[in-house]
Parts: sequence; structure tokens; C-alpha cells
Amino acid sequence: MTRRRIIYDGKAKTLYEGPEQGTLIQYFKDDTTAFNKEKHEILDGKGVLNNRISETIMLGLEAISIPTHFIKRLNMREQLVREVEIIPLEVVVRNIVAGSLAKRLGMSEGDRLPRAIVEYYYKDDGLGDPMVSEDHIAALGWAAPHEMDDIVSMSIRINDFLSGLFLAIGIRLVDFKLEFGRYYQNDTMRVILADEISPDNCRLWDARTGNKLDKDRFREGLGGVTEAYHEVAQRLGIFPGGQKGEES
Ligand code: TMP
Repeated sequence: MTRRRIIYDGKAKTLYEGPEQGTLIQYFKDDTTAFNKEKHEILDGKGVLNNRISETIMLGLEAISIPTHFIKRLNMREQLVREVEIIPLEVVVRNIVAGSLAKRLGMSEGDRLPRAIVEYYYKDDGLGDPMVSEDHIAALGWAAPHEMDDIVSMSIRINDFLSGLFLAIGIRLVDFKLEFGRYYQNDTMRVILADEISPDNCRLWDARTGNKLDKDRFREGLGGVTEAYHEVAQRLGIFPGGQKGEES
């Protein structure tokens, strides 16, 4: 087997050169980090679960004509994706008060917001991903206003789609983070959804019990992290292998 060229080695995923020009292989690791890598553990099988969950969600989004980087799942840990130029923003959509919003504005966790709120964070680990406004983004040239229009309209559609998908399986979608990239094809460029959508970057609460089924279990040291991700996968109708996180 030949060694593949690493294009980018992230905290939870590695991107390798793809088989064709304009493609990459996205490998899902078991590494789990929080608070800008202050906390780091290897959670057996987490990458396998996120690969399957993200595949299911990306296919659902494609079915409603949201352009994504996802091409196909290759195996238990890898996806073939379109190569994009990542826009250096983390786009957070919130439906229910939690996390940094609760802290920043002194609001009670669990309160439903009157409408969805979209926030932007500048992707820079060294700075701790600071929150920025559309004016920072335009003035500093991270994304053009017409690109932001596409990002906002896609984010709202993704929120509506995901809220319904999760509601149908007894899960409240509290908030989530998205990343977008520029996809160049011949002479055209368009902004498409990149990265992953999984319990690593969503807050998912069981609608009946309020149990956390996402990375907050890791952030807060509650334990049962992969078990919770497995529960999400199972409710979405995904059964990776026979056993929890088993490679096959
Ligand atoms: P926050 O409440 O900590 O700002 O997080 C909002 C959402 O974004 C939540 O679903 C978790 C997700 N998120 C990430 O995916 N990566 C991050 O680095 C952070 C801070 C949050």
C-alpha cells in the first residue's frame, strides 16, 4: 500500500489527497478534544459513528438540494469529498439557549429562543475562535457579502431540515456548528457545505428525558460519550457493524 499525502491534519479528522483532482479523503479519527485541545481523549469507535451519522445527514441535505462536499462514504472511517477552499468561519445556529450563549448573556439553559439565531466565529485556534460580526467578515475579506447571503440561507434551511429530522426521532436540536467552503469547477465557484455534521458539533437533547446525546458529555465529563453517539446513530436507522463502533 502506498502512503497517501496528508493535506490537513485536524483535531478529529485528517484530510488526504483524493484519487482524482478536486477530491479529498476525509478520515474520521477517534480523537476527541474540547476547550481548544486542553482536554483530549481517544474514544474507541467515535470516528466510525461520526462518519456514518455525517453521511446520513449530508445525503439528506443533498436530497433537499443543499450543495455539500460529500461525494460518498468509502469505508467505516473515510469519505470521498470535494476539495474546497475553507471559509475561515464557524457558523453556529441556535434554537435553544445553551453553552456560550447562556454564559455570555446570563440566560437560562434550555429556554427556547423566539427564532433561530445565527452567529459567526473566526476560525483561529490561537485566538480561541473569537466571535465576529458580518461587518468584520466583509471588512477583513473572509467572505464576500453575496457569499454570506448564501451561507445564511443555507444555514437556515439546514436548521429546519435537521430540527425536523431529529424531532422525528425524539431529539431536540439545541444548536450546531457548520463550516462552508468555496468549490471551484471550471470557471465557476460556489459556496458549499463542508466538514461534518455529527454529535461532535451539535447539541442534541433527548426530547423526553433531556439527556445529552452529544459532545457536551465529553466536555462536562459525564461519561457514556460513544454510547450516546451510538444512540443517535441507532435512532437515525444506522447500525455500524454488529457491535458498538465495531469496524467492518
Ligand atoms: P457554544 O455554545 O460553545 O458556542 O457552541 C455552539 C455549538 O457549536 C455547539 O453545538 C457546539 C459547537 N461547537 C463546535 O462544533 N466547535 C467548537 O469549537 C465550539 C466551541 C462549539
